[in-house]
Amino acid sequence: MPDTTSLTATSHRAGTTLLDSPAIAVRDVSVGFGPKTVLSEVDLPIERGTITALIGPTGCGKSTLLRSLNRMNDKTRGYWRRGRIEFDGADIADPGTDLLNLRRRVGMVFQRPNPFPMSISDNVVAGVRAHRMVPRAEMAAVAERYLKEVSLWGAVAERLGDSPFRLSGGQQQLLCLARALAVEPDVLLLDEPTSSLDPVTTEIVEDLLRKLAPRLTIVIVTHNLAQARRVSKTTAFLYNGRLVEQGDTAQIFEQPTQPETVSYVGGRIG
Ligand SMILES: Nc1ncnc2c1ncn2[C@@H]1O[C@H](COP(=O)(O)OP(=O)(O)OP(=O)(O)O)[C@@H](O)[C@H]1O
Ligand SMILES: [Mg+2]
Repeated sequence: MPDTTSLTATSHRAGTTLLDSPAIAVRDVSVGFGPKTVLSEVDLPIERGTITALIGPTGCGKSTLLRSLNRMNDKTRGYWRRGRIEFDGADIADPGTDLLNLRRRVGMVFQRPNPFPMSISDNVVAGVRAHRMVPRAEMAAVAERYLKEVSLWGAVAERLGDSPFRLSGGQQQLLCLARALAVEPDVLLLDEPTSSLDPVTTEIVEDLLRKLAPRLTIVIVTHNLAQARRVSKTTAFLYNGRLVEQGDTAQIFEQPTQPETVSYVGGRIG
């Protein structure tokens, strides 16, 4: 049995069963920059404990939507948002939202690996340390656990004190994944996390995502349609400022209902 005590406590307050509700609910959300509207009236429930893929041609707003989910765009010049984004039932824009805590619980990994200028092991526990999640004496064990989880331990065990910048690009990305996982998020947002990785590392990441999904909710932006099919349960297709279609991944790829989706998954647009 998973430990659901804290969720149940929250759900009594909210009067609903949170375990059955979406981890994140995007309700009638429009986003843009200055005079430009990037996406209009998006409704998207992100199912708890599953992988959701966001697909669509370049510039359609995938990253903008993803970054809205943990308020990463807040400080971007000109950015605005209308509508509601709920995380565990509460609007993430509520004045009472603790932004640091939101970003711990809704973590993010970017397209380009961004290790911090500190040792490999310090990278893994950077967030754990900042949030004072475990005593100092346990940091090494936490680093080892998450480096093992992302299949990087074997490659770095002998050089934990080294700079991460001497690792290969793929290893750096695995390190960033380890860092994101170490703070035990509920949701992981991934923006084209494997687009610069070789096929072997890509497979490591995809296997890991599948393994994580029951305890973690994952949203992945990808241009790789085969990847979306391989890893996701649900797919959402963004095009021309709209969320054109969302549904079960097999349905989106095999029986799309909208003509734009038919063209995109058939390789005719994008
Ligand atoms: N900081 C910004 N200021 C102004 N416009 C922006 C900014 N960031 C993104 N945009 C615009 O918003 C639109 C959506 O961009 P976004 O990066 O979300 O697209 P995307 O779907 O992630 O594309 P790609 O597949 O190329 O990564 C684009 O027209 C882009 O030029
Ligand atoms: Mg993008």
